[in-house]
Amino acid sequence: MAESPAFLSAKDEGSFAYLTIKDRTPQILTKVIDTLHRHKSEFFEKHGEEGIEAEKKAISLLSKLRNELQTDKPITPLVDKCVDTHIWNQYLEYQRSLLNEGDGEPRWFFSPWLFVECYMYRRIHEAIVQSPPIHDFDVFKESKEENFFESQDSIDALCTHLLQLKPTKGLREEQIQDEFFKLLQISLWGNKCDLSLSGGESSSQKADIINCLQDLKPFILINDTESLWALLSKLKKTVETPVVRVDIVLDNSGFELITDLVLADFLFSSELATEIHFHGKSIPWFVSDVTVHDFNWIVEHMKSSNLESMSTCGACWEAYARMGRWVYHDHAFWTLPHPYCVMPQVAPDLYAELQKAHLILFKGDLNYRKLMGDRKWKFTFPFHQALSGFHPAPLCSIRTLKCELQVGLQPGQAEQLTASDPHWLTTGRYGILQFDGPL
Ligand code: F6P
Ligand code: MG
Repeated sequence: MAESPAFLSAKDEGSFAYLTIKDRTPQILTKVIDTLHRHKSEFFEKHGEEGIEAEKKAISLLSKLRNELQTDKPITPLVDKCVDTHIWNQYLEYQRSLLNEGDGEPRWFFSPWLFVECYMYRRIHEAIVQSPPIHDFDVFKESKEENFFESQDSIDALCTHLLQLKPTKGLREEQIQDEFFKLLQISLWGNKCDLSLSGGESSSQKADIINCLQDLKPFILINDTESLWALLSKLKKTVETPVVRVDIVLDNSGFELITDLVLADFLFSSELATEIHFHGKSIPWFVSDVTVHDFNWIVEHMKSSNLESMSTCGACWEAYARMGRWVYHDHAFWTLPHPYCVMPQVAPDLYAELQKAHLILFKGDLNYRKLMGDRKWKFTFPFHQALSGFHPAPLCSIRTLKCELQVGLQPGQAEQLTASDPHWLTTGRYGILQFDGPL
């Protein structure tokens, strides 16, 4: 078998990985420090002097981290005592073992980008957990909530659209298919709203997304939605499969999460799926990623919204969860730096869980990077092969492009895109719905 290509890395000067480590990550750290500053009085009110001391400690740990990053210091082992600390330190050892003589230690502008970028978010978490009593403060909570509030109009329009489709019993098969395609595209464009690309600045959805879909179609570089439909509509008609399980590996909270919940609702109410399993992060991650707190917060805020469309959807979603038809999971593996091809060894329980799905939807750019091992595959390299043996169930990546990585394109397609838009890989303007599974 041919050797796998190199990892994306900030050692490639001028690359998107390089610019992320050089500019975007220090900016995110500065914003985190600023957030802690702004919550000083809240910490005081809650915990008195101890709260103030904790804030100071967290800030000093984060300033140290920013300095290490900006001066390209060696990556150091984690010192906290969390469930995953040991695995992280083992992974650092593994990174050391990959180095050639003369390379020195793993460091920010030299090691694989996926590893150092995940490590930065894990170090933010370490700074907070080491600062009791504010050890469970989510430094990104505010921006996630802002994104939700700023997207209210689009959320309202989307929920109204969903409610008009229900009950779906009256819909013809072609209508169900058409709506399924629409909601998949909405979930795709929802991924434009991540907050790590914008350095934590607001990136909400202001336009009415449903009416933009037609105009956005040319920006979908790979669209395998027909295969998803073929798979799910066949399962629906097969009496031997009374349970059809779709898993959604979530990405960002705020508007994107709403698009995923709307899609999940439609899958469920149209009986294309009978069970939906959501997978979120167990710690704050890449600024806007969903934690269980965000998930519950959003359902709760939907339910108590003054807008009827939103409150009706919120009440339905809570009921689905109560009935056990919607299940939320988290697992420490999702916030490790490992590529997904090693999941069977590192998190066999999670792999076994995913194998129960009939279809897994992987939302967002970071999931794509982990599916692809964050390697510099050729643009025309087959998706199935680039998954490097990760095939727990039929799967589909739904992501807008925010890194220099894409496989499965037609010969000449990448060259054409580069000629018309040199930044096509990194701005989130283009998207894919890329399927791997039996056709
Ligand atoms: O910071 C870089 C990055 O990994 C990009 O690849 C992407 O912009 C972002 O973080 C995460 O995006 P998403 O929320 O879609 O996974
Ligand atoms: Mg994200």
